[in-house]
Amino acid sequence: MATSFPPVVPGRFQMLHGGDYNPEQWRHRPELLDEDARLMRRAGMTAASVGIFSWAALQPGPDSWDFAWLDAVFARLQAQGVGILLATPSAARPLWLAEDAEVRRMRSDGTREDPGGRHSFCATSPRWRAAVAEIDRRLAERYAGHPALLGWHISNEFGGAAENGRCHCPRCIAGFQGWLRRRFGDDLDALNRAWNSAFWSHSYQDWAQIRPCDRSNDGLMLAWQRWCSDLVLDVVRLEKAAIRSASAAPITTNMHGPMDFYDHGAVARELDFVSYDCYPDIDGSPRDAEAVAAASFYDGCMRGLAGGRPWLLMESCPSQPQYKPRMRLKRPGMHRALSLAHVAGGSDGVCYFQWRAGSNGHEKHHGAVLMQDAPTDTRVFREVAELGADLARLGGVVGAACPAPVGIVCDVHSTWARRVSGGFQGEPAPAELAMTHHRCFHERGIHADLVDADSDLTRFALVVVPGVALLRPGFAARIEAALAAGAQVLVDALSGWYDDEAAIVAGGRPGPLAGLLGLGASEEMDVLRTDERVALTVTGGWLPAGTHAIGHCDLMRLAGAEALASYAGEFYAGRPALTRHRHGAGTSWYLGCRLERPALAHLLARLADAAGIRPPLPEIPAGVVVRERIQPGRRYLFVLNPQPQAVQVGVGPGWSDALGEAAMPATLDLAGHQAQVLTRPA
Ligand code: GAL
Repeated sequence: MATSFPPVVPGRFQMLHGGDYNPEQWRHRPELLDEDARLMRRAGMTAASVGIFSWAALQPGPDSWDFAWLDAVFARLQAQGVGILLATPSAARPLWLAEDAEVRRMRSDGTREDPGGRHSFCATSPRWRAAVAEIDRRLAERYAGHPALLGWHISNEFGGAAENGRCHCPRCIAGFQGWLRRRFGDDLDALNRAWNSAFWSHSYQDWAQIRPCDRSNDGLMLAWQRWCSDLVLDVVRLEKAAIRSASAAPITTNMHGPMDFYDHGAVARELDFVSYDCYPDIDGSPRDAEAVAAASFYDGCMRGLAGGRPWLLMESCPSQPQYKPRMRLKRPGMHRALSLAHVAGGSDGVCYFQWRAGSNGHEKHHGAVLMQDAPTDTRVFREVAELGADLARLGGVVGAACPAPVGIVCDVHSTWARRVSGGFQGEPAPAELAMTHHRCFHERGIHADLVDADSDLTRFALVVVPGVALLRPGFAARIEAALAAGAQVLVDALSGWYDDEAAIVAGGRPGPLAGLLGLGASEEMDVLRTDERVALTVTGGWLPAGTHAIGHCDLMRLAGAEALASYAGEFYAGRPALTRHRHGAGTSWYLGCRLERPALAHLLARLADAAGIRPPLPEIPAGVVVRERIQPGRRYLFVLNPQPQAVQVGVGPGWSDALGEAAMPATLDLAGHQAQVLTRPA
């Protein structure tokens, strides 16, 4: 049964089309501000993210405030039907505030960062916290009731700073020590045991001895990362409380990058909707397929954080992102195809960085809808406006579900644990493994949500557990619940290594997962050279004939599971490489080695079949993106060709054009960079 979700902005049954808008950089050119509002309407913009870096304009001195210019922005945009996602300006602070050393982050060598830049605040600074809370509260009080207010954009891309925003000032270090006291119930012996700090004689006799400077202590380094992550969460809560003192409008913060700076699941649970900034590396080469797959992976991360609900693409570049090695122009049509791919992946809108490029400053070359005060009759503007018109016709998609029968566990605590732990460093990081698995579903048009280890897994027919090295409390029980609900669950050999403190799991790998998998503790793991592979003997067709193990070969012991592939070479010939075990109403699978992508894709396709998962189309040509979104009674099929060459895609009969209502042929001829959205009754 298809579900429909409420729109990210309550009551707005319309795709959002917007972007970062920095009118404070153009206050000396009022004619351009008028032009902005007029052109936003022409481009079909419905949302502008305002105020992101406006602190100095709003509060030019400790006791002076200027909201008049922002009032005028609200009025101008409202008159053109453009809503406002109002940002709190905490990502960059005014120099008068930065002059106070207390608010500037301290590096690990004890020096303070210079004023300037962005994100360089010390999150425990009382002065900074009070200043943030005050400006947020004033903004909330002033604009809570404004009809143009759509919602709140807290700060900007938390974690996007040097050293991931870690501050080593005495107050932060004391805060870390207090955090540890609470975590270990004031029991220093418990901490010493959990971290095995007898190693190299690092046992602590006093909480005050614990400083985040000992890279040989894995438990310490993991805890430090977690404390820094909790500080981000704490700032989100601080800002949320200030906003909520006056406004009930929905709150988000824009996430970005590889999402390993902080625990995004914990932050997402504080938000009304999640949003992401996506800048794929598109350069017109065959590597674009990887960039498109990676973008789709992050769409899946957003769905996972949102519990399957729609989310918002908060930033993307309509032309040339500046932070790429080559600033190649997006070819005509590419912006539309890439943008609709995010809508297909669950975004209920498309927003940009940024509306109008600044005249100077570090991002003056970054592609924007409008470039400085240059003529506005440009190809980029026309393409943005055409997309705006398309999005306006896609109101029916707002709130539509992305039916995701697959859940891939991608947990940042495992990323951190692997990073701080010595050993096995040549094997891929958890997120890379998750991305490799996700790509196999991406290419078949199947939505796979990336979920953290704290998430409920029972909504998935197939659960993939790749590289979940650290077992969060309750994770094994969540796997067991998915099995009890009848799921197929695939666990790999890089999962189940550590307890929640990064100590080797009791009883050996894969710890509490072993019983669910019908396995005993693994004995050893061989790590292969990059030029080595080990042939597998396969039974039952779960892997293609001629499959080889690459990367690593785990030497596991069966304890109830059956072997469906075994190593055919090396001193461990005959030992199992792939196993299956029935548990509850479901089936658990264990893959002891890595596979080349075609063999992995084969295995995942067979598991999807076993889980009763049907891809939206039987055949998808290489490089084409196909995704479905579903409303009660209506299906939308996105068929996108982000590559230069033309392709034919068989979609079968009965579809019409969601953007024009014409009946569509059963085989689509898609030109290079062309995108189609089809619809039919469900
Ligand atoms: C984003 C950031 C924006 C801008 C943009 C440039 O990550 O949020 O403020 O810097 O990158 O690509």
